[in-house]
Amino acid sequence: HQSRQQPRFPALQANLGFSLLAFTGAVWLVPKVSESFVLKGLRGRDLLKPGGRTNGPWIPESLGLPCASLYLALMMLFIPFPFSHLFKSPLSSSDSALGPESFPQRELTLYLSSLLSLLTATLLGFIDDLFDIRWRHKLPIPIVAAVPTLLVYYSVGGATSVVLPKAVGSWFSSIGLGGFMRSNIVDLGPIYYLYLVLLPTFTTNSINILAGINGVEVLQALIISLSVLLNDLLFLPIWSPSLLRFFGFQNPENGRILDWAIGEVVDRHLMSLYFMAPLTGICLGFLWHNWYPAKAFPGDTFCYFTGMAFSAVAIQGHFSKTLILFFIPQIFNFILSCPQLFGLVDCPRHRLPHYDEKTNLLNPSKVIFDEPPPTRTVIVLEILSFLRLVKLERNLPQPGDKDRRIQKGYIKSSTNLTILNFLLIHFGPLREDSLCILTGFVQVLGSATAFAIRYGVGSWFYGG
Ligand code: UD1
Ligand code: MG
Repeated sequence: HQSRQQPRFPALQANLGFSLLAFTGAVWLVPKVSESFVLKGLRGRDLLKPGGRTNGPWIPESLGLPCASLYLALMMLFIPFPFSHLFKSPLSSSDSALGPESFPQRELTLYLSSLLSLLTATLLGFIDDLFDIRWRHKLPIPIVAAVPTLLVYYSVGGATSVVLPKAVGSWFSSIGLGGFMRSNIVDLGPIYYLYLVLLPTFTTNSINILAGINGVEVLQALIISLSVLLNDLLFLPIWSPSLLRFFGFQNPENGRILDWAIGEVVDRHLMSLYFMAPLTGICLGFLWHNWYPAKAFPGDTFCYFTGMAFSAVAIQGHFSKTLILFFIPQIFNFILSCPQLFGLVDCPRHRLPHYDEKTNLLNPSKVIFDEPPPTRTVIVLEILSFLRLVKLERNLPQPGDKDRRIQKGYIKSSTNLTILNFLLIHFGPLREDSLCILTGFVQVLGSATAFAIRYGVGSWFYGG
């Protein structure tokens, strides 16, 4: 066995070691530095505990910073490992140093640009924690952080085409748009880049707005990271064919198993795995302290840094369409939030659930309308209420009311438009940790759906 003597993935074991270091490092580091964060004023009240907004316990905030720093340090120390096999052979056989032809400059550039994007995202997240940038302003920030990654994607001839089902392809041809396509492949060109530019904005902010209860930011990052990791592992030739056939990983057209897992594709997923395994370690280590009742808060730093990590590996690894499937709960939460984010419905500073001190349970929080809301707001809320996404309260009309809107009985309050409140409407009231587990369960369900779409239906949608 040649593969026994010369392991194909020399850095895999090292990477596992780094991931364990990331986990133990995060478990150890966070309490060590918590005190200094509080001393510098980086602390927030745990709002869903007795005392709440005014008297809730102070918890150190922005502990995503030591986590991101540890992660970046480990990823920097890891750089030589994937290339270590190159150090020995050519240098020992001749005097010449590694020439540019023999060294995989491209992989190194991909790796370094990902680190640069992560570093920028961490900095921006931390600035947000310090100065509380308004969300409207912080939306476009990750675009800046993604430029290095995108440029490298472009420089290595990044693909901008998507594969469409055959039927759609022939339909396009029949309406005269066939010229854009090679068989059923559409080249989206600049539009695809627009998608890639917006991807980091989405991944970072969508984690940040699915927040507010202990553990939830970190748990979702952990599950997404595990999902990406599993997806990467699928591309490594380490599985027995019968197992893969059992799970249906078969190309429906020619019956071959995992025939997408060849050459460059394997390398790209290996690179993604090198980033995701230590990230999983960090998330798990930090969850240790962030789990209910939280001893540390992640802050926006953590949301930005993990969100950017997902975008960076997906762009570099050419699986940005698969990645977005792992964000199904976040997409739901974002779409549901839109009326509040874009000003149709009032958006308070905090939309987290409402804590009932008597029962220690969470109920949906509400946005209250002091006067009848404008018609467009009413239309949106009625649609959402019809879809059972919000719960409305209406004023009973009083005999003396002159205003026609009041006579009809206007909407007095609506639950805040978040997935957490949505879950509470249907499954609540719940304890804070139960709601977190439920959200994690939804995330796992989302990932399972993602795998089904990607490898079931999606084998016609997705090219390599
Ligand atoms: C986002 C949400 C906001 C939510 C907040 C909670 C949007 C548009 N913004 O704002 O609705 O209330 O996250 O993180 O959806 N906190 C807790 N328990 C936790 C985590 C956080 O009480 O488990 C509180 C703490 O007071 C903490 C603060 O939330 O200090 C952090 O809020 P921050 O991350 O700055 O809020 P945003 O990201 O701006
Ligand atoms: Mg936040």
